[in-house]
Amino acid sequence: MTRTLVQGGLVVTAAEETYADVLVEDGKVAALAAAGSSVARGWTADRVIDATGRYVVPGGVDAHTHFDFPFGGTSSSDTFETGTRAAAWGGTTTVVDFAVQTRGRALREGLDAWHAKAEGKCAVDYAFHMILSDVNEDTLKEMDLLVGEGLTSFKLFMAYPGVFYSDDGQILRAMQRAAGNGGLVMMHAENGIAIDVLVQQALAAGRTAPRYHGEVRRALLEAEATHRAIQLARVAGSPLYVVHVSAEEAVAELAAARDKGLPVFGETCPQYLFLSTDNLAEPGFEGAKYVCSTPLRPREHQAALWRGLRTDDLQVVSTDHCPFCFSGQKELGRGDFSKIPNGLPGVEHRMDLLHQAVVDGHITRRRWIELACAAPARMFGLAPHKGTIAPGADADLVVYDPRATQVLSATTHHMNVDYSAYEGKEITGRVETVLSRGEIVIDERRFTGRTGHGRYVPRTTCQYLS
Ligand code: URP
Ligand code: ZN
Ligand code: ZN
Ligand code: ZN
Repeated sequence: MTRTLVQGGLVVTAAEETYADVLVEDGKVAALAAAGSSVARGWTADRVIDATGRYVVPGGVDAHTHFDFPFGGTSSSDTFETGTRAAAWGGTTTVVDFAVQTRGRALREGLDAWHAKAEGKCAVDYAFHMILSDVNEDTLKEMDLLVGEGLTSFKLFMAYPGVFYSDDGQILRAMQRAAGNGGLVMMHAENGIAIDVLVQQALAAGRTAPRYHGEVRRALLEAEATHRAIQLARVAGSPLYVVHVSAEEAVAELAAARDKGLPVFGETCPQYLFLSTDNLAEPGFEGAKYVCSTPLRPREHQAALWRGLRTDDLQVVSTDHCPFCFSGQKELGRGDFSKIPNGLPGVEHRMDLLHQAVVDGHITRRRWIELACAAPARMFGLAPHKGTIAPGADADLVVYDPRATQVLSATTHHMNVDYSAYEGKEITGRVETVLSRGEIVIDERRFTGRTGHGRYVPRTTCQYLS
């Protein structure tokens, strides 16, 4: 039995903040006691970590990553090995990635393929959602089986016609099934049919630069799809989780639904909180670095996102980490923005960027932990093992130095991508030491983890509903 003692830090959870010593035994949190009292209690340990002047927070739960994800004729540049290592560096100890159903094929086949990509490769724990690309009688039946096995959330796309797109009938059927089996439908809410018309019109008019990606993917078309998804979920009697919300008008749709008491939830991502269409408009082809969907919005949308995070109209901040190298991947869209692979790198920086939001006064320290750890754990059935620090929970712990400063850069990050979306951004706060199920995977800014340490985590259904 290995014992580790994390001493003297300010333990911050979504619920409370206390100076405490944390005893870790066999991968779990064994006990907490008032800071300094562990000696008197006779607690001994193989390793004592001094957290004086630091926060001790739960390991982050990033509920939206795409490692080794095929998109736009290429694949995202982080594998499960490199991506989960970068996650560990950034204080994230659980990721929920998206297994993909290929059109015309079984869900099981897609899930098996994602298990094969991840098994034995991960530095931190992982789980899967399933992308439904082909809703039919067989896949609906398979949904029930997967929920029973602990894969309890399914992403559908109102965008990307011909790729992942589902029509309203397919969406309704999947939602009806989820209403019956306890699954959670996650929606990419953009009107892809209308967007594709605007894409063709823009290209025909010679508007081919990256910034037009943001212009054609209109905020109104995100709001319209969000509204439609909410109404379909009401008809089906199912809960709904809208991913990567970026438009003020979409937040308003979620807020209105929640004010009616509907089980509707929303996620946003750091890129929508810290970046904007100014980045998409950077000179030359630089804007391609910031092409993702939903797109970055004009800066004015950010206030509504921050407000939504404070008022709980948005519950979760995930990264939607989906990196493509500028060289050779983003460049596929030179001369045609619609061919730029969609997605931004970010799995390493979510805990830090949200800590910066605490420093900047957007959210409280406890809300930081709620948005980044506790809420995603409950939303996706990972609590009580993940997302908090309490006796019996997995010892996924981060010793966080709130006063250290750092500058984000591609020259120092650990993600397998040749640029940073946050190049040069100064952050107050830094991950110092990280434990994953009691194993020290980052030790005072040195990686001490191991490929294959991370385990697959089956999940329960959404814990916001029961
Ligand atoms: O641009 C993005 N978000 N790429 C990843 C796929 C998705 O829609 O989440
Ligand atoms: Zn999406
Ligand atoms: Zn409200
Ligand atoms: Zn995504």
